[in-house]
Amino acid sequence: MKGLEGKVFVITGAGSGIGRGIALRLAEEKARIGIIDLNADGAAETAGMIERAGAMAFSAPADIVSYEAVVEAVNAIEAALGLVHGLVNNAGWDQAMPFLVTDTALWKKIIDINLYGPLNLHHIVVPRMIERGIGRVVNIASDAGRNGSSGEAVYSACKAGVTAFGKTLCREVSRKGVIINTVCPGPSDTPLFASFAGEGEQGARLRAGLEKAIPLGRLGQPEDIAGMVAFLLSDEAGFIVGQTISVSGGLTMHG
Ligand SMILES: NC(=O)c1ccc[n+]([C@@H]2O[C@H](COP(=O)([O-])OP(=O)(O)OC[C@H]3O[C@@H](n4cnc5c(N)ncnc54)[C@H](O)[C@@H]3O)[C@@H](O)[C@H]2O)c1
Repeated sequence: MKGLEGKVFVITGAGSGIGRGIALRLAEEKARIGIIDLNADGAAETAGMIERAGAMAFSAPADIVSYEAVVEAVNAIEAALGLVHGLVNNAGWDQAMPFLVTDTALWKKIIDINLYGPLNLHHIVVPRMIERGIGRVVNIASDAGRNGSSGEAVYSACKAGVTAFGKTLCREVSRKGVIINTVCPGPSDTPLFASFAGEGEQGARLRAGLEKAIPLGRLGQPEDIAGMVAFLLSDEAGFIVGQTISVSGGLTMHG
């Protein structure tokens, strides 16, 4: 894809699942990958995979909920790899349960990670992009934010929020060269999905039900999501602005 080689991309949550898939896909294009993840071991493992494949990576473990920690991490990535061209807000978290049995401590944790985290990243990285007159952001939201998802009320609100936030900021900054789009994965086979589905017979039943409901007959894999993200970050998508795209094997079809 045009416009990825040699560019620096910051990916949050690239120590696992979809974020790792995106990192490896961009590395295939010879992009340079800066990883911000709470899980230092996972982040280092992803960086090692990228380096063994012959591309450059730098891991800056940090909690995206901390503004100061994100500033430090982005500074470290720019010192190691160069100025950031693209940002993928991928880190996310949830603990599924019916809303009426949740408490405010859980709401706060979900909102901190899934909404404040991306706000921090945008606030720190987008001004640097504007300074250079170019930048690309892809936010990983969720079809839960478009259609709802039982057991994920607060998470769904955050994902809808991050989608609307991205459109709004995109309106504010696109003439300064920064383009923001959103990708909504459907149910995808990652550690987060495993914790959502639960273990044992109940988890297997949920998985089988989803496989039946998804027109392609299977859950998504990280590499299913990664191609769309790489495309939106590339020069080939330079006229796609403020859009929200579901990658869900057809479970959701938006007109
Ligand atoms: N798996 C799915 O079915 C699915 C569906 C729709 C959307 N999504 C979204 O895709 C994204 C990736 O999810 P995944 O399924 O790959 O999950 P995952 O749990 O495999 O990976 C998430 C990564 O984010 C990191 N992370 C969590 N909180 C963090 C924090 N505060 N600071 C820094 N890093 C943090 C974790 O350490 C982990 O490495 C998330 O935003 C998730 O909401 C996933």
